[in-house]
Amino acid sequence: MCGIIARAGIGDALEELVVGLQNLEYRGYDSAGVAVRRADGPITVCKREGETDALEAALSGRALPGGTGIGHTRWSTHGAPSDANAHPHTDDSGRVAVVHNGIIRNHESLRRELREAGHRFRSETDTEVVPHLVAAALDDGADPESAFRAAVARLEGSYALAMIVDEDDAVYATRRGSPLVLGLGTDANYLASDVPAFLEFTDRVVYLEDDDVVVLEGNTYRITDVDGTPVDRPIETVEWDASDARKGVYNHFMRKEIDEQPVSLRQTLEGRIDGDRSELTAFPPGSLSDVDDVVFVACGTSYHAAMYGSTLLRRRGVPATALRANEFAHDPMPVSERTLVIAVTQSGETADTLASLRVANDLSARTLAVTNVVGSSAARGADEALFIRAGPEIGVAATKTFSSQVAALALLADRIAADGGGADAYGDETAGVGDHGGAYDPDSVRSDLESLPTAVETVVNDAGAARLATQFADAESYFFIGRGVGYPVALEGALKFKEITYEHAEGFAAGELKHGPLALVTPATVVIAVFTGRNDELTLHNVREAQSRGAPVVGVGPASATTLRETVDEYLPFPRTDPNLAGIPANVHLQLLAYHAAEIRDRAIDKPRNLAKSVTVE
Ligand code: AGP
Repeated sequence: MCGIIARAGIGDALEELVVGLQNLEYRGYDSAGVAVRRADGPITVCKREGETDALEAALSGRALPGGTGIGHTRWSTHGAPSDANAHPHTDDSGRVAVVHNGIIRNHESLRRELREAGHRFRSETDTEVVPHLVAAALDDGADPESAFRAAVARLEGSYALAMIVDEDDAVYATRRGSPLVLGLGTDANYLASDVPAFLEFTDRVVYLEDDDVVVLEGNTYRITDVDGTPVDRPIETVEWDASDARKGVYNHFMRKEIDEQPVSLRQTLEGRIDGDRSELTAFPPGSLSDVDDVVFVACGTSYHAAMYGSTLLRRRGVPATALRANEFAHDPMPVSERTLVIAVTQSGETADTLASLRVANDLSARTLAVTNVVGSSAARGADEALFIRAGPEIGVAATKTFSSQVAALALLADRIAADGGGADAYGDETAGVGDHGGAYDPDSVRSDLESLPTAVETVVNDAGAARLATQFADAESYFFIGRGVGYPVALEGALKFKEITYEHAEGFAAGELKHGPLALVTPATVVIAVFTGRNDELTLHNVREAQSRGAPVVGVGPASATTLRETVDEYLPFPRTDPNLAGIPANVHLQLLAYHAAEIRDRAIDKPRNLAKSVTVE
């Protein structure tokens, strides 16, 4: 949700700024822009509505020498996508240029005040007040750093800001509630919303805290607090590889990331299973023994992973609920010091999820972030963190991180249950159809977690979803149904499908279909039914209800489940795995189905309309 990049150092900034913007485009693609301070003094701004290609075309053939610059890729909040609303924004004279990610809540009153003082505004953005505030302070005799601090002191809301001023060699930056990370190179230093922006130039990073003020000058940097007192932040080395953040031979990041799942799952699981127990370094045996109940908070795909995790915990006899973070933050459920609130978030920067974490902290619950990003706000804002180790995910549609989240939550559920002695709540009931029983056998789950990457590899190489995407390309609606852990997978399948194809897709608990949604089922509705090997015969009833109304049904289920295969119209099989984990390979089929359906429709798969990867506003 808006990406910012800044660079100061030896050599020219422009090329690296553009690379940074390309790498950040998953955060927003309504417009892109750069401002470079020319070696001889003034600032040149170039910005265009549209993706970074439009900016690159506008820049082509233009020489913009200078080692200091800022850049921005926008996801619109205030003002439509346009050249005028694109960042960087400047003051009247063009002396000050600013890029911003976040929302300045008091921008209207500041704008009124500045207008009355004679400032002229050229955009509808909240951001534009910042360069005007800085210019006003400069006019009053402040130096650039003091002017920047004075402007920031007037702001309410969330922001990551970077600023350059003409005839000054530095970049000034700060953050509050929006991500900003410092990258330390050899000839230059960088600031960005996310590490992949500058990963090609350096893997040495400093994660900044709220209200840190950073000054980059030449190839040096300085971090101070809001009062100007120097603060010491550790330098860390990022383990991600720069090639992980590139498309390579693929047309789309999404497809690359789907294919990466056998590897990313291995990374998630590596060293974390030891025979009869889950080994999580952060959670040695006994460390979760004071947990009475678990509340998950998350959004979007992460919410579906959280639902999956809560189902696994309940199956182990541990009371667990998954709530949407945007609801919990404003209507929290009662929690106690013995409640573990788990924020599941790929980016670790989703504003709704961070707001929930703050509420949970305020309510004195024990908090844990399950995230992909070391150093993220969630990782730092929770009492503890568990990293899913999936590697960078660039496609806006989350894929490999869902699989890794679920695998990590399965390990965590095992540890919580072992510490709390949660009894298997569902005993030894059997599912009937399919090749598995219904019991939660922790040994089977652990052992099948180890073979999960291989099972997923089989699905990734299966051409079935591509064929069915073509076969059902003319359907009016796509309904995804499932029960147990198949329910969050059905929701996730529908989210992925609508997100990148723009077709009508909905997910339902299989048993709920007959309570209303069945009224919408016609021969033009494709029903995609997720089977896990547990309670499948019940889902099969729901399948037959849909088939009676003429709907074609695609089953996604265990390879050896012959009754299922014979009942549904089409079948996407996955290799035998424990029913508690079966949602993971099933979901990979649904990812591929969405991907191919979007490809047929020629959609912008990695950058679906109106969306951005990391939603840093509430
Ligand atoms: C799903 O494809 C989306 N990218 C979106 O739903 C996402 O999962 C949600 O915005 C939460 O993001 P997070 O995991 O980074 O918190």
